[in-house]
Amino acid sequence: MSIVRLRGVSKVFRSGETDLTVLRGIDLELSEGEVVSISGSSGSGKSTLLNLMGGLDRPTGGEIHAFDYAVHSLNEADLTEFRARRLGFVFQFHFLLKDFTALENVMLPAYMIGMSRKEATGRAERLLTEVGLSERLDHYPSQLSGGERQRAALARALINEPGLLLADEPTGNLDAENSALVESVLLEVVRAHGATLVIVTHDERLARLGDRRLRLERGALTRGTVEDR
Ligand SMILES: Nc1ncnc2c1ncn2[C@@H]1O[C@H](COP(=O)(O)OP(=O)(O)OP(=O)(O)O)[C@@H](O)[C@H]1O
Ligand SMILES: [Mg+2]
Repeated sequence: MSIVRLRGVSKVFRSGETDLTVLRGIDLELSEGEVVSISGSSGSGKSTLLNLMGGLDRPTGGEIHAFDYAVHSLNEADLTEFRARRLGFVFQFHFLLKDFTALENVMLPAYMIGMSRKEATGRAERLLTEVGLSERLDHYPSQLSGGERQRAALARALINEPGLLLADEPTGNLDAENSALVESVLLEVVRAHGATLVIVTHDERLARLGDRRLRLERGALTRGTVEDR
């Protein structure tokens, strides 16, 4: 079953007199539980595409449907609700709030949709355990390693059981060892929760872990080639 559908999606950035066409008529369908990786050179529009899917930006043309939302035409209030209920985001930078513990950071999105404190705490503890942070619940972000922060950010992205997880270079700031750990936790947890994952990455190894591998080039999506290095 397809849960996300992009039809003829284009994005043009206007700055002053010049138009920069970043995406030209993208068609894409994502099935439930699928893991899709997107690679492409810097500036090719990978983050732009992810932001459009997540309703963080609007397309210049075309349609984006996700679950039962027409994402391209939602007003701000409905977009906020769509993101809170259906989406998880993981970025290159963790964006954890520094004055809150790991547990509190993970609980916050659940509060936003009105979950009780008891249920939010239970879920957050379970997720932090799944990502290997059961001993770090009361640590502040400054007391966590880079890899641990990214795993906490992953737990936060999953607290509302999103159907769609969008990850933009989730291991971009990590060393090889931590990247490998975050990658395996990401894949494991996403599979366990049955979420669809779109992952933007420069990392060949991570890109290869996807069920489907795509490449963004000159504003169009093509099937990625698997280079065995
Ligand atoms: N808000 C904006 N206004 C104008 N141009 C933008 C804006 N956002 C992105 N761009 C331009 O669109 C192009 C695509 O940007 P995008 O961030 O999607 O690339 P990317 O593939 O994610 O690159 P990277 O791998 O470096 O993260 C770039 O040339 C960028 O300069
Ligand atoms: Mg980017």
